Amino acid sequence: MVAGATVHKGLDGIIVDESRLSLVNGAEGKLIYSGYKIEDLAANALYEEVVYLLWEGRLPKKDELEALRADIARNAVLPEPVLEMLKSLPKDANPMAVLRTAASALSLYDPDGEDNSPEANRRKAVRLTGQITTLTAAWPRIRSGQEPIAPREDLTLAQNFMYMLTGNADDKTANDAINAYMVLLTEHGMNASTFVARSTVSTGSDMHSAIVSAIGTLKGPAHGGANTEAMKMFLEIGEPENVDRWFEENIKTGKRRIMGIGHRIYKALDPRAAVLYERARALAETAHTKKWFEIADRLDKRARSDQYFIDRNLYANVDYYSAIVLYTIGLDIDMFTPLFAMSRIAGWTAHIMEQQANNRLVRPDVLYTGPMDLPWVPLEER
Ligand code: ACO
Repeated sequence: MVAGATVHKGLDGIIVDESRLSLVNGAEGKLIYSGYKIEDLAANALYEEVVYLLWEGRLPKKDELEALRADIARNAVLPEPVLEMLKSLPKDANPMAVLRTAASALSLYDPDGEDNSPEANRRKAVRLTGQITTLTAAWPRIRSGQEPIAPREDLTLAQNFMYMLTGNADDKTANDAINAYMVLLTEHGMNASTFVARSTVSTGSDMHSAIVSAIGTLKGPAHGGANTEAMKMFLEIGEPENVDRWFEENIKTGKRRIMGIGHRIYKALDPRAAVLYERARALAETAHTKKWFEIADRLDKRARSDQYFIDRNLYANVDYYSAIVLYTIGLDIDMFTPLFAMSRIAGWTAHIMEQQANNRLVRPDVLYTGPMDLPWVPLEER
């Protein structure tokens, strides 16, 4: 494209397609998955119920839910060569790079790997949903020299995650918190990782390739990487009484951004942050220390009373209080973003199937701003 065209940098406000999966109402701070309010789903739904909702467009009946739960649990097993590959990776590798690599390797052992039919995609979506959870639980064990634990067929995905991570499937507080976290993170419209997943399959490529693209995109600190960065920030602040000084030195001076605050779409409070705030507060009551919640709460209130944040409609996003929830449960902070990925897998696969059902190649344009009509200069004369 040459001069005269309007550039939509960052694709702000551009509607690229239709979707029945979720409505993100940024002005009012509302989020709906296929008709249901996020607050209702987070309070009541099993993650697998939301997966069914997104894949099928309606909530499951009891036997349908049990069938999907069992199917995902049965298919969450990792192929032996992928487990062996994980054990050979550098122990200090970025866990999102590990997840991206392993998700790519999974395609090589998937019986439907190169089959893009709707039936094969549905089977791959089931496998990937289980396997990404298994990978996320296995890596912290493998890198610390422990044997990974295989998934159990009788557990929900949230229970299986905690079981495969710790060996204990019965910590109800942790299981419930992980389930709620997963429900809240399942789906979120045309965010960057979902967009690249849809773009990938729009070329006729396969589901695993799209998931690898999505994981690589989620890794960035402006997207899924913000939960880890938020927790690093809380740890740096250290004590609730340091919040005000930290804010003056780092934020008022314009040196840094508060990680976990601000959102491209939400110009009101992210409804997921409101749910996670309550979760984080309740967990803090039972944890050995409340200080991480207190730091987050105090910094959030400090920012919300600041004119700069008020003028720009900057509120806590999903990553802010989820960092406190995940840290309080005892997860390594660099595993927070893989947890985001293992929750978002159902949204990504739903979008991939939606794209494939009514596909058009995603191919935007760019305004050319380089030079024109340069005379060719032979190599020896340059
Ligand atoms: N702290 C301080 N100032 C901020 C913050 C923040 N967290 N976020 C935005 N601002 C300011 C910017 O400096 C800018 O100010 P200016 O108008 O004076 O230049 C203004 O608010 C708008 O910011 P943009 O970066 O233009 O907004 P954009 O929509 O592109 O960015 C983003 C959204 C990337 C999320 C941003 O708010 C940010 O960097 N937040 C911190 C990282 C984060 O939490 N990411 C997770 C996003 S949610 C998710 O992916 C799950």
